[in-house]
Amino acid sequence: MNPVPITLSPAGPAGPVRSARRARRRRYLLCPPEHFAVTYAINPWMDPDRPVDRAAALRQWRELAAVLRGLGHRVDLLGPEPGLPDMVFTANGATVVAGRVLVARFRHPQRAGESAAHRRWFAAARFGRVSTAAEVNEGEGDLLVAGRRILAASGFRTTPAAHREAEQVLGLPVVSLELTDPRYYHLDTALAVLDDSRVMYHPEAFAPPTRRLLRRLYPDAILADPADAAAFGLNAISDGRHVVLPAAARGLAEQVRAAGFVPVPVALPELLKAGGGPKCCVLELRSDERGGRVDGGAPRVA
Ligand code: ARG
Repeated sequence: MNPVPITLSPAGPAGPVRSARRARRRRYLLCPPEHFAVTYAINPWMDPDRPVDRAAALRQWRELAAVLRGLGHRVDLLGPEPGLPDMVFTANGATVVAGRVLVARFRHPQRAGESAAHRRWFAAARFGRVSTAAEVNEGEGDLLVAGRRILAASGFRTTPAAHREAEQVLGLPVVSLELTDPRYYHLDTALAVLDDSRVMYHPEAFAPPTRRLLRRLYPDAILADPADAAAFGLNAISDGRHVVLPAAARGLAEQVRAAGFVPVPVALPELLKAGGGPKCCVLELRSDERGGRVDGGAPRVA
């Protein structure tokens, strides 16, 4: 069965534009927030004096996992460890391209222990080519795979030297971007990859030369306004058709819909107290194989 084409409005001079955004089945690594807490502050969203409801965090996280499974994706789990309250943010633990794994090296000592947990998980899951970054590199928090390139940020966590290392280890060209607003300390808080050639981002989060570069690379990008960016709307997960994003980013959801994607709102307010959203909770495990389509042919990845 073929996916149903969706109609984009408005109609152009040649009549209605037809577009079929296709989902590709993904494999994601998640970690339940069983030891979630805000006990230190390493980004401006974190306030250790503000209470955190761990049971609510778990409920909200389970809903996210259910949404991803419901969209047809495979969800693998990393075992949570006491003393690592940010471990729920698996995106930061590694970057995986075509089965090659580059395990993160965290900037802050409070999160350093997460690297070993990821290394053990990848070894147990029989990923053959696993290396650990020598440079400070916070995984998919700052390195976003966009088709045949990696968009990589520096400014707060990951360093420019780590960009060069990622290019060598992962085998894709890296485009370096510079973040300048401390609220958007990871790239995945300021930019989301929608499919191989489309992104959405918040220009004000980047240095002026980076804004010019992004305009040139992605002239048709969706631009998020300050309110949607502050609602963490760009911390979104796209499978090429569905875009899972924070429910509070209403305007951005409409922009995503107008561009032919299907917005899927989720609410993770407890995790936002740590400066995290849905994308931070998800690490994509890209195998050599291309996954099957969710809304079409049979998935090829078991
Ligand atoms: N408290 C965590 C930190 O500051 C949040 C990480 C969010 N992850 C992300 N991919 N943006 O490191």
